[in-house]
Amino acid sequence: SGHVAIAIDGPAASGKSTIARELSKRLGLVMVNSGTMYRAVTWKVVKDGIDAENPAAVAEALEKMNLQCGVDGLDSTLTVDGIDPGEELRSQEVNAHVSHVAAVPEVRRHLVDLQRSYLQHSDVIMEGRDIGSAVFPDTPYKIYVDADPSVRQGRREAIGEIDSVTDRDRKDSQRETDPLKVADGARVLDNSGHTVETAVEAALEILIQQG
Ligand code: C5P
Repeated sequence: SGHVAIAIDGPAASGKSTIARELSKRLGLVMVNSGTMYRAVTWKVVKDGIDAENPAAVAEALEKMNLQCGVDGLDSTLTVDGIDPGEELRSQEVNAHVSHVAAVPEVRRHLVDLQRSYLQHSDVIMEGRDIGSAVFPDTPYKIYVDADPSVRQGRREAIGEIDSVTDRDRKDSQRETDPLKVADGARVLDNSGHTVETAVEAALEILIQQG
């Protein structure tokens, strides 16, 4: 398509969203948080009383869902059956169920298609778990943002979120379809000791080398 994708992957609460958002501003690229899409499907599944641990039921619910993705300036937008779930995407219930929903192959297939479609319209910086390995495997721009588990769990607790990040990481790494891993060609950025400023500088340095 001629458009460029920058893939930012890594485990939960590694700081990849903050880095991706800052890169988006500095480089003027549309930023897409793919976790939001998995959370949106999970939000709808939970809301409709569907068992998130029943892959067949989740796949059936997905069939009936109208998931719309778009762009607003440098931000991406998303609605489920016309509704933007907003802050409900970060609820304790969504945190607890999202890794089950994200392991369903039909869910991944559908969301990966939506993620790839962004590239038809613009360059993107996209963050997630499998962006460099499965969504845009051919892009040269791949960063895997990691941090110590205690640092990551502490980040969630600091904002009062109830979320077992190590639990999600284990499920996300062990699933069969497109698990969390360091993609071929990705550079690892250890964010444990960084400030936002120095992390973004390190990310820009990696991108320059990959270009
Ligand atoms: O990035 P975030 O923590 O919001 O992602 C929520 C969940 O969505 C992850 O724990 C994972 O289960 C799923 N996810 C995924 N693939 C992606 C992005 C997120 O499986 N590319």
